[in-house]
Amino acid sequence: MDVIVVPDGESVGRAAATAVEQLVTHRPDAVLGVATGSTPGTTYRELARRVEGGLDLSRCSAFALDEYVGIPEGHPESYRAVLDRTVREPLGLRADRVYVPDGGASDLDQACRDYEAAIEAAGGIDLQLLGLGTNGHIGFNEPTSSLRSQTRVKTLSPRTRADNARFFDDPDQVPRLCLTQGLATILRSRHAVLLAIGEKKAPALAQVVEGALSAMWPGTVLQLHQHATVICDEAAAGQLTLRDYYDAASGEAARELGVGTAG
Ligand code: F6R
Repeated sequence: MDVIVVPDGESVGRAAATAVEQLVTHRPDAVLGVATGSTPGTTYRELARRVEGGLDLSRCSAFALDEYVGIPEGHPESYRAVLDRTVREPLGLRADRVYVPDGGASDLDQACRDYEAAIEAAGGIDLQLLGLGTNGHIGFNEPTSSLRSQTRVKTLSPRTRADNARFFDDPDQVPRLCLTQGLATILRSRHAVLLAIGEKKAPALAQVVEGALSAMWPGTVLQLHQHATVICDEAAAGQLTLRDYYDAASGEAARELGVGTAG
């Protein structure tokens, strides 16, 4: 895993946007995996600025990591609505190329199989952007998720529901179920880019990068990924013990992304 530590959240956004831009420069019809939540905000806003400046993402496709089950259709916090606002519109993607698992389907298991088939039909995900839960989840693969899981229905943990309550008027409105890409689905992406911003993510990030592979910290599965890059700010990097090593070793990766490391 490459670990690139940059000073702050804005720098995380610039580095991740550069990774996307470099991919799209040699593959204009790239397939992107997109996270929701707060973390990728700086990345999407930076990409939007670059699109205004001439970057063309109109031939790209995007696959969401997850979607709530049972959220009222059209709810502003459904991940379909969030991705419309933060990715599809500002980045100029075609509506028929933005895929979100169908959390309103009458047959949720079939919706999950359809989602896996859609990813495969698109040729697989070139670059998967990921955020990190405070409990170590990626996507909504909560602790004890199978490391070989595919897209499926999951129950959200109490911790995740509490973490996401800030997006809803009332904590009771946070859905209890979701559809999420599985850990094996995420492992099939050609490049996984895990973003982490802020001190609250420091314990989980230390586990993911330096802890033992374990379903209790689902993000540790990225240790098995063929090409995983962590881009984090100083605060999220606060509990990494091999920081001097990452700064020395990732100099090359960071230079490729056109960013300076913090150290
Ligand atoms: C979102 C997702 C989650 C979030 C994670 C971090 O699509 O799959 O794994 O990335 O919960 O959320 P934030 O970024 O809001 O701290």
